[in-house]
Amino acid sequence: MTGGKLDKILILDFGSQTTQLIGRRIREFGVYTETLAGDADLSDILGDGKNGAGGIRGVILSGSPESVYEKDSPAPDRRVYSCGLPLLGICYGLQRMNYDSGGTVESLPQREYGAVKVSVTADSGALSANGALFLEAAGLSGREFTSWMSHGDSLGKLAPGFIQAAKSETGFPAIVFHNEKPWYGLQFHPEVTHCEKGTEILSAFVFTSCRCEKSWTMEAYVEEIRAELASRVASAPVLLLISGGVDSSVAAALLLKTLGADQVHLMYMDTGLMRKDETAQVRTALEKLGARHVHVVMCGEEFLAALRGKSGPEEKRKCIGDLFMTIQEREVARLELDDSYFLAQGTLYTDLIESGKGVGRKARVIKSHHNVGTPLVDAKRRQGRIIEPLDKLYKDEVRALGRLLGVDEEVVRRHPFPGPGLAVRILGEVTREKCDILREADAIFVSELKKRRLYDEIWQAFAVLLSIRSVGVAGDVRKYGWVLALRAITSADGMTADVYPFPSKDLIEISTLITNTVKEIGRVTYDISSKPPATIEWE
Ligand code: XMP
Repeated sequence: MTGGKLDKILILDFGSQTTQLIGRRIREFGVYTETLAGDADLSDILGDGKNGAGGIRGVILSGSPESVYEKDSPAPDRRVYSCGLPLLGICYGLQRMNYDSGGTVESLPQREYGAVKVSVTADSGALSANGALFLEAAGLSGREFTSWMSHGDSLGKLAPGFIQAAKSETGFPAIVFHNEKPWYGLQFHPEVTHCEKGTEILSAFVFTSCRCEKSWTMEAYVEEIRAELASRVASAPVLLLISGGVDSSVAAALLLKTLGADQVHLMYMDTGLMRKDETAQVRTALEKLGARHVHVVMCGEEFLAALRGKSGPEEKRKCIGDLFMTIQEREVARLELDDSYFLAQGTLYTDLIESGKGVGRKARVIKSHHNVGTPLVDAKRRQGRIIEPLDKLYKDEVRALGRLLGVDEEVVRRHPFPGPGLAVRILGEVTREKCDILREADAIFVSELKKRRLYDEIWQAFAVLLSIRSVGVAGDVRKYGWVLALRAITSADGMTADVYPFPSKDLIEISTLITNTVKEIGRVTYDISSKPPATIEWE
């Protein structure tokens, strides 16, 4: 679904945590990006090496936690060096280009991390026309700026043809060009927002070096997806499993607008582990989008029964995952859809990258809890009947698409909610009573965040019911109430997270409101752990 006509930047992912940011930044410019495993076979993509095969105008070699000297460290298909396209090496990508071209890479005595000053030393007369143009387009000529670095290796001897254009405050090469080929290398990470000049540098590569045109818009994407869906699905029924989150809701909107309400079946499972009023809200939002076949499966009793007596996090997750699949199969069979039906999923580009399915062998599996491999999904995939209309989009793009399609703002800006629901936010055994207590407390927390206009500053916020009680007083009576933790974090993608610096007045007021309203809760705490070392969820 990438559209042959679009100008594209190919990103080779060698495993850096910031690779996804490169794609997001460039797409914000209005240019399409595609990310492949760093060592992907490029023969079908670069064709016979002629420039611009399949719309690709340039290639970025990403960073990596590895070192070029490590056995089995990822290396690109050699064709990338002979295809004639502009190349941008970032950190490891630069080291790789230098090493593969005959230069050396050295290990630093100490890893360098964070803000590092870079000064552009080369005068433009000493550089190739490409290099001089790049510096000028990025506004770097003769400049000093604060870059953002994260590396344990650095360039040693430059490969033949490579020229140093800038050095870091500690004296190693920070920007390197090739004096004949359109190759550019950065020891720092321009994709990280803290990197001064980062946007200008990426933009110089994309528009000046690669001469990309801005052709990536949501409107163009919708047109393309609609054409593809209409021809692939024709009149077959489509079933989409809805969680109520942003991704599946936007996927529903896209299917409904493209195929019409008669063809689209939406199934939603209320596991009893949902937030307050969630099921009713989901139903209303879907009906507003014009959905006609909404199948809400109420299976809370089954989940609570299965969870009885289970208190270990993994045990609970497995129990929920297994039961989810059993009920899903049973309920889908009950719909008696024609066998030719398609199964749609709201999978995002990042889900594929993170689960290691999209980008190939070397991609690290960071999360395994994405819904990419249930038996139902696997069976449909084997039949070639899976549709994933969002699988080329990043989360921010899905939100933009949702707005374009008229999905409720409440849904579009919703914080993520995990598949196992409140079960991973009730420590220890899950009971109906605890679900009810947590639901009330969480609803107060979230509605207060919205009222106080803090909700959109936070990436994810929720309450967690701990498995301990503590002593307090209510009037003259001692009470023994549950302890609740509030969590609020900021993040770019959930892979790492910082604690949200909660305004203390709001935090205290919200805590008071919770203990005054939910009588079973005696004490409220605020979780001040970042990820890593903690995870976002407590279980
Ligand atoms: P952690 O707790 O791993 O969470 O730092 C990262 C993000 O993933 C969400 N999460 C899940 N989402 N199924 C999901 O669909 C799950 O089992 C699951 N566990 C965690 C979490 O809410 C956060 O946004």
